[in-house]
Amino acid sequence: MTEVVHTPRVFSGIQPSGGLTLGNYLGAMKRFVDMQNEGIETIYCMVDLHAITVWQDPDKLRRATRELCAGYIASGLDPAKSILFNQSQVAEHTQLAWIFNCVARMGWMQRMTQFKDKAGKNAQNASLGLFGYPALMAADILVYHATHVPVGEDQKQHLELTRDIATKFNHDYGVEFFPITEPVIEGAATRVMSLRDGSKKMSKSDPSDMSRINMTDDADAIAKKIRKAKTDPEPLPSDVDGLEARPEARNLVNIYAALSETSVEQVMRDVGGKEFSAFKPMLAELAVEKMSPISGEMARLMQDETEIDRILAEGAGRARAIAAPILKKTYEIVGMVGA
Ligand code: AMP
Ligand code: TRP
Repeated sequence: MTEVVHTPRVFSGIQPSGGLTLGNYLGAMKRFVDMQNEGIETIYCMVDLHAITVWQDPDKLRRATRELCAGYIASGLDPAKSILFNQSQVAEHTQLAWIFNCVARMGWMQRMTQFKDKAGKNAQNASLGLFGYPALMAADILVYHATHVPVGEDQKQHLELTRDIATKFNHDYGVEFFPITEPVIEGAATRVMSLRDGSKKMSKSDPSDMSRINMTDDADAIAKKIRKAKTDPEPLPSDVDGLEARPEARNLVNIYAALSETSVEQVMRDVGGKEFSAFKPMLAELAVEKMSPISGEMARLMQDETEIDRILAEGAGRARAIAAPILKKTYEIVGMVGA
């Protein structure tokens, strides 16, 4: 069978399930903007249907969805260049997800570490949606025949599952229909860690607000959190190897490299040997310079909800125009009458 070549198309999504962090920004959003500006077709989603796999207050969900859209735009996504929309407005995602529920195997899903982490000890009480979540994620991507997916390190396993689902579908139906999507996990900060504990991921769900920089934090809050970030007593090493077994130092250096768009090696050459008391103010200044304009712009955009809703509706229309024919073709392949 001849290999079908799919034109490059980028898809990614973030859950509107509360505040956005510096981890989301460096691991995902900033990369979304880079890919948009490379001139590739880019589709970015606010995955509200994923968010409700754990309980969400409806008013807060609406607000978080709009705030995420504001965050996308404030970070540099341009609704004229990228397609921006919330998942629930394009029903094709859930329609394809059902088909993928019938392709994915129980054993594959049971291996997903994010499910195990999120379900915790009481997995019997987790929603069926939380368990099936990665099949919906595969549908989000494949309903556009997306070829590249920028994400943080924590999503790697879900993207491998997406490839497994595409491969099994193509094999079972004897077609070369779905692309085998490439994860794009790049940059110095694919896994930003908590500012209080270098072994834990920076997360919006951490009970301590001091553990993270929120995209809505003002300059004072950003500077204070960096000043108080956990470190060790040694000065910074002069090369990357010296960061081994120093997770907090490594994290701050990674953040510095990602914000200043240089490599970790370069940062080590510039700041190696400095005490944290000298490095932290440099990092705080850089973080404030890069992040506080974004929080200011988010606040401004949030004042006009009608405009945000208009952008989402317009993006949904453009998304549907791509997804509908791909879903129709999938139904035909599967044997649905009337497709
Ligand atoms: P979520 O907030 O879980 O929906 O994640 C949205 C995107 O942000 C995904 O691509 C994640 O991999 C990325 N992300 C979330 N937290 C971090 C982090 N601490 N470091 C790097 N990337 C992250
Ligand atoms: N699972 C992703 C997360 O928790 C969010 C997500 C849903 C996603 N669908 C996606 C990311 C499709 C990339 C592509 O962060």
